[in-house]
Amino acid sequence: MQLTSSEQLQIFLEIATEAALAAGAVLQGYLGKLDAITEKGRPGDLVTEADKASEAVILDVLHRHLPNHSILAEESGKLGNTESEYLWAIDPLDGTTNYTHQYPFFAASIGLMIAGVPQIGVIFDPFHKELFRAAKGLGATRNRLPIKVSETAQLSKSLLVTGFAYDRRETPDNNYAEFCHLTHLTQGVRRSGSAALDLAHVACGRLDGYWERGIAAWDIAAGVVLLEEAGGKVTAYDGSPLKIESGRILATNGHIHASLSHELLQVRSLSL
Ligand code: IPD
Ligand code: CA
Ligand code: CA
Repeated sequence: MQLTSSEQLQIFLEIATEAALAAGAVLQGYLGKLDAITEKGRPGDLVTEADKASEAVILDVLHRHLPNHSILAEESGKLGNTESEYLWAIDPLDGTTNYTHQYPFFAASIGLMIAGVPQIGVIFDPFHKELFRAAKGLGATRNRLPIKVSETAQLSKSLLVTGFAYDRRETPDNNYAEFCHLTHLTQGVRRSGSAALDLAHVACGRLDGYWERGIAAWDIAAGVVLLEEAGGKVTAYDGSPLKIESGRILATNGHIHASLSHELLQVRSLSL
């Protein structure tokens, strides 16, 4: 793993914070005032002028401070120096569907991967004014106060969250079977509509675990750092090291990790 000094990580964390706060202001500004809501390809996969304007302010901050870094931004794709070991994974508006309905569960998510390892994460929920920040080895905070994962140790006492990728209509392996299976084994499974906030809420102990398939690096890079720094565990479904590009993530408080992994591996797709 690339070693970066804590002073350097702190600088990156402040830059990510500047970008996330600017993005949050843009998102609050457009909330309830959208003119242009369009589908990007798959049914239900929406993009709005708020996604684009939020991404523009984030890119502006990163370009100003770190012109040599590489960027993977949901709406603009790959940008900058492709040789760089520093890759920023940006979701300017995670929870676009919620946002278009003024359902107040959305965030800007900014993660930095260094040599492929997520090391900085900032997630800002501007509606609830919650700023989640973490840097590898430096801890995780919510509104600048330390956070940690829950103590829940049994699946039967846990509250989980998941999501459904936009290919759900055409993909038999679409997470419906997992959702049913785990709903029966736990106190409930929520579907919030923002993967970044799902991870942030596991990190601060409001939820005990999260899993999802079909997810992109920009959805989870920031949340992975946050959860690990809050004492949680993040892996592939089978407990092996997370491969972000696989699109599958299992993220928990650590205590229920093995049981949740075991149950996910039991599930067979529903034949719909
Ligand atoms: C989506 C949200 C949702 C998750 C989807 C994501 P978007 O991101 O994070 O919770 O279930 O897989 O694509 O489109 O709102 O940025
Ligand atoms: Ca997203
Ligand atoms: Ca998005």
